[in-house]
Amino acid sequence: MLLTHIGELVTWENERPLRQDAALVLADGVVAWVGDAADAPAADEVLDVAGAAVVPGFVDSHSHLVFAGDRAPEFEARMAGRPYAAGGIRTTVAATRAASDADLEANVRRLVAEMQRQGTTTVEIKSGYGLTVDDEARSLAIAAQLTAETTYLGAHVVPDGTTPEAYVDLVTGPMLDACAPYARWVDVFCEDGAFGADAARTVLTAGRDAGLGMRVHANQLSYGPGVQLACELGAAAVDHCTYLSDADIEALATSDTVAGLLPGVEFSTRHPYPDARRLLDAGVTVSLASDCNPGSSYTSSIPFCLALAVREMGMTPYEALGAATLGGAASLRRDDIGHLRVGARADLAILDAPSAVHLAYRPGVPLVARTLVGGR
Ligand code: NIG
Ligand code: FE
Repeated sequence: MLLTHIGELVTWENERPLRQDAALVLADGVVAWVGDAADAPAADEVLDVAGAAVVPGFVDSHSHLVFAGDRAPEFEARMAGRPYAAGGIRTTVAATRAASDADLEANVRRLVAEMQRQGTTTVEIKSGYGLTVDDEARSLAIAAQLTAETTYLGAHVVPDGTTPEAYVDLVTGPMLDACAPYARWVDVFCEDGAFGADAARTVLTAGRDAGLGMRVHANQLSYGPGVQLACELGAAAVDHCTYLSDADIEALATSDTVAGLLPGVEFSTRHPYPDARRLLDAGVTVSLASDCNPGSSYTSSIPFCLALAVREMGMTPYEALGAATLGGAASLRRDDIGHLRVGARADLAILDAPSAVHLAYRPGVPLVARTLVGGR
């Protein structure tokens, strides 16, 4: 298929990241050719986008889509002044445990479809609202039907009715054994009210030893040890990064750990936004993701996150787009997605706009006209 008359094509090619009046040939689910529309080869099928911008499909590297119910009353109370606390997670745990497999699966499918309509072509999905061996394993089995990027987050909070020590033993023992077959990654919420540095290290190294890659939730609600732990262990990603010391920035800048920014959380909790400018200026690789979950960030929209990142976090529109595409791919240690160079997966979004700047410039407007995943 030939996609032609692309007003602005974002490929993230090294020499020429943006092209004007461009065309793209997609074949067998990958990008087969990139060039000027005037030089485009013949193709069986031609899609003339009449000057629209085309961008790599968004790589949403952080979401919690396996849950039941919502927490609208909690959000309403928060907007009236009640602070956000990690303890709200337990409300969703109760609803998730009570839901049938079919209802849980239908909710994940609904949210993945919602993401796709807004340009997301790869999504990482975490467990973490089951917190029993069976409920975590079924959460991951459902997630694995929809993505290869599944993350075991048994260590989300300590559930009621157990001690932190006993729960870490469960998470690193029988629960890990049951979940690892469905998971690519292990994650832990390292924060006051969830898991401290020692417990987080135990969870991450157990997951690593079971063959999983490491990701961390850290420094969301306050300064803490999570970012430096993630860097020391060589985790692929440490997400939130809202409260960072100079030593945290230094650790990120000298490691391969990607700093994940989740501005939907700060929007929905009325917390201060992370300082993306400080990270970028220090040379840290940054990703931008939705963190879609019913508590701290119930948005599935990467365009909304781009707008927040540009308006509130000191990013330029193209830096933000880079973080939501290439940055997400780096966070997931993938080189086949997040760009449209020859050989990339044919994952892209056709915009109802002449340039990618419009994604942040026109917040709240549904600008994704069509999303292609693997060329379809
Ligand atoms: O990424 N920080 C931990 N977990 C989620 C919040 C989950 C919830 O509030 O239900 C997050 O923000
Ligand atoms: Fe999260």
